[in-house]
Amino acid sequence: MTRDTLFEKKASAEKFQFNERVADVFDDMLDRSVPFYKQVIEMTVEILDRSLQAGDTVYDLGCSTGTTLIALAGKLESENLKFVGIDNSKAMLDKAMRKAEMFSMADRIDFVEMDITQAELSGAGGIMLNYTLQFVKPSTRAEFLKNIYSGLRHNGVLVLSEKIVCQDKQLDQQFLDSYHQFKKRRGYSELEIANKREALENVLLPLTIQENYDLLMQAGFSRVETFFQWFNFVSFVACK
Ligand SMILES: C[S@@+](CC[C@H](N)C(=O)[O-])C[C@H]1O[C@@H](n2cnc3c(N)ncnc32)[C@H](O)[C@@H]1O
Repeated sequence: MTRDTLFEKKASAEKFQFNERVADVFDDMLDRSVPFYKQVIEMTVEILDRSLQAGDTVYDLGCSTGTTLIALAGKLESENLKFVGIDNSKAMLDKAMRKAEMFSMADRIDFVEMDITQAELSGAGGIMLNYTLQFVKPSTRAEFLKNIYSGLRHNGVLVLSEKIVCQDKQLDQQFLDSYHQFKKRRGYSELEIANKREALENVLLPLTIQENYDLLMQAGFSRVETFFQWFNFVSFVACK
């Protein structure tokens, strides 16, 4: 895994993009920047195992380098599942395809390069949308979630993970401090943390738990719960 040193130098004015440089270090970046990433995937496997049926399609929207789909394809128990990963970054998908080949999963997972908000989803038993809705323009999120809802079959589930903001400003600051401590413990310097934060400004736009919950309910989901929270990182399960 190539170590993420992208933000070691003084920040340039460049905004964060999922380009080749990011794709190259992305697995290390996620491992050191997303708290309990592996545990959330394990919990997702349990959630999907309870609701998937033979022949279902499992989509990962914003699949990046395919880590989640490769893990799911190896662990889910239902038979004849189809796996589709969608992302609009060619650099990410190139890595995903190489990794799928390495794990002998290339014939089980389709990777598609396109905008997830334009994707036609059908026959979906499970859809993952992890740490990606936060990058979708807020004005299009409601419509996008409605499209996800339509693509799911009856009893299908959406797993949504997001960075969130708190309604309470003081707690929000405390949660962010805890997150920065987490990143320092994982080897990022103060400068790297500050530089990345600047690059993500106005690119990663988080909502509160309540706002995400409301969007999911408005999209049509009848049952929505959070199943994981670590300070400002939250995962929801939404059932059709
Ligand atoms: C933070 S990463 C997601 C991580 C991944 N879901 C995981 O859990 O390993 C966000 C991904 O979403 C992709 N992305 C962002 N906006 C997109 C869009 N509108 N259409 C397709 N992909 C998008 C980016 O290219 C990037 O690979």
